[in-house]
Amino acid sequence: MGIIYNEKRKTFSLQTKNTTYQLKIGNLDYVKHLYYGPKMCDEDLIYLIRQYDRGFSGNPYDSLQERTFSLDAQPQEFTTQQQGDFRINSIEVQNADGSFSFNGRYKSHRICEGAFTLQGLPTAFATEQDTVDTLELVLEDAVTKVQVTLFYSVFFEADMIMRAARVHNGGNGTIQLKRIMSMNMDYLNGADMDLISLPGRYGLERQVERQPLTHHVHKIRSGRGISSHQQNPFIALADRSANEEYGSCYGFSLMYSGSFLAEAELDQYDQARLVMGINDRLFSYAVEAGEDFDTPAVLMTYTHDGLGGMSRRYHDFFRNNLNRSKFVKDVRRPVLLNTWEAAFFDFDDVKLVEIARAAKKMGVEMIVMDDGWFGKRDDDNSGLGDWYVNEKKIRCGLTKLVQQINDLDMKFGIWFEPEMVSEDSDLFRAHPDWAMEIPGRHAVRSRNQLALDLSRKEVQDYLIESVNRILDSANIYYVKWDINRAITDLWSNSLPADKQGEVSHRYVLGLYRVMDGIIKTHPDIMFEGCAGGGGRFDSAMLTYFVQYWSSDNTKPLDNLKLHYGSSFVYPVSSMGAHVSEASPMVPFETKAAIAMCGTFGYELDSTKLCEEEILACKKMSEQYHKYYDLNFFGDYYRLSNPFEPVNLVAWETVAKDKSEALLTVVTVNVTMNGPQEYIKCKGLRPDLFYTVEGDGNVITASGTALMHAGIPVPREIPEYTAFLYHLKAVKD
Ligand code: GLA
Repeated sequence: MGIIYNEKRKTFSLQTKNTTYQLKIGNLDYVKHLYYGPKMCDEDLIYLIRQYDRGFSGNPYDSLQERTFSLDAQPQEFTTQQQGDFRINSIEVQNADGSFSFNGRYKSHRICEGAFTLQGLPTAFATEQDTVDTLELVLEDAVTKVQVTLFYSVFFEADMIMRAARVHNGGNGTIQLKRIMSMNMDYLNGADMDLISLPGRYGLERQVERQPLTHHVHKIRSGRGISSHQQNPFIALADRSANEEYGSCYGFSLMYSGSFLAEAELDQYDQARLVMGINDRLFSYAVEAGEDFDTPAVLMTYTHDGLGGMSRRYHDFFRNNLNRSKFVKDVRRPVLLNTWEAAFFDFDDVKLVEIARAAKKMGVEMIVMDDGWFGKRDDDNSGLGDWYVNEKKIRCGLTKLVQQINDLDMKFGIWFEPEMVSEDSDLFRAHPDWAMEIPGRHAVRSRNQLALDLSRKEVQDYLIESVNRILDSANIYYVKWDINRAITDLWSNSLPADKQGEVSHRYVLGLYRVMDGIIKTHPDIMFEGCAGGGGRFDSAMLTYFVQYWSSDNTKPLDNLKLHYGSSFVYPVSSMGAHVSEASPMVPFETKAAIAMCGTFGYELDSTKLCEEEILACKKMSEQYHKYYDLNFFGDYYRLSNPFEPVNLVAWETVAKDKSEALLTVVTVNVTMNGPQEYIKCKGLRPDLFYTVEGDGNVITASGTALMHAGIPVPREIPEYTAFLYHLKAVKD
């Protein structure tokens, strides 16, 4: 059992294989947070908390004359509102009588088997290999009867805890949620903690930023209606001394694809607090009497094996517990060529077949027809929303086109951008009120398109029906699901004035319903997500998409940073990465080595390649298959940091049984007459010997030597050379 409740002490110890999380029903039935860290036996850690009379930090009325108990200084599982805790809060609710107050105290709990699920929101699931138990802990405000149920699903083997909160309005009138976080996390001492986040921009997502936690509120957020290029709904709190291999790290991944918020602060006593959930900006949600509101889930882990250890936890979990698609594990994903950078909008059926024929020689197994095949779509000013084939371009019709590609023994993939509408489209002409626009104002245009109001059921139904119609009309193997703008002009014509604060969240719920209706009903189709690259790359999306297009930036050197940052939480098997014509100074082989730190494919015009390039690509496609299992299922190690002035950028994937590894080294700078450089491996078995091949030399050395002395990387080579070292254990 992963959850131990000690009735006498009133402690709950959530035990995973390597961690313990402890909470306790404490003074006046407030639920205290006591511990999260390395595994310990079921002891009572209440001794950690000392109470003092804290000036200007009030005391609950029923603590009587006791001046040492203040919620302002107590570590808690979820916060109250207006009860004397002035730190960042998890809830802001306006009660039916207009008051802003929530005094949540322990009411009841239950422990059950399996993982919790949420209404309309994705969650992680238990696998057969793991034992999962859930604690549901109910806090109640005795006056308003508003309840908050805290959920904790404990994934024992995976060392992961999934959390969320459900608000239940047990009173008589309607309440307004102004802010509701998925979780609150308190630390007794955060003075030596760093906050790590993954900021970026369009074309350069998920860069790594690390900064000390200080005495102000750090906000990591997106208000863009999508989880965004600019911030990712993942953060880590790590000991200042934590590095790739050692040190305490706490990871938090929010399973939400809309505007989100993470706030962290160091309080006046150097305690740290973190909350994470739906962004409270432009948000309010009415919960009627008797109704519930669910927050998205957070996937939380702790490790003392440094940032690398934390990342590997997430990689395993994301590969095992998020998505049941057969393309995650059972069916190998084909090498694809996407036509976007090959032709943009300028193609027809004949050109696509030509591209496919040439691509076949490169070892490409699937052609993806990108934007431009539907409605009136010759540029990005029109056509979105009209999900029927443009027969001026695809003259033979979709079914026949796919047949022609299949006749080449290749698979066929197609692009959609379901959530959007062009003003110049039949859909907009028929339903102008389906686009998000605030009455009396003009909507913000972005890429000259508007967002559909996905909070409306009729819009959701239209999308499910029109996209499914295309998917069922031909032998489609793959879909790229794109969104190319942020969501603004939050307004829904289907909601009354006092519910307009719900639109942003209802959009996300609507999106998940649409994806359920399209993706979950097509288990034989492989779905890749995209948001102008990686603008909505999050753990919720990975419950639908087996992979996500990392970035519209296919420049290989930028991708070194992009993949490094993404790998903090996302596995190689989820990161779409292609070889393109960008950065001609970088050899094809190096581009391929970098794209193999992702799902690998091409984004170029195969008909323009010379014979030599075609052969090089063929070799690279074969390599992708050769190393598929290592890359997709192995343990990933970052060996150098491309954000530092390094000459070599390297990473490695090691088979779970440690019998094999693939080490990739990219030379980004070769100094004249410089020192010999070595790359030190990680994760090998110290006592095994490995043969190492990849730069023309063959080495046989022990895991200890390879990890602590390293592999000498050739010096007299051009810049941007990449080496793929294959390490194979020598049989005893
Ligand atoms: C976005 C995607 C690209 C491509 C274009 C098509 O920018 O990220 O890969 O699909 O849209 O319009």
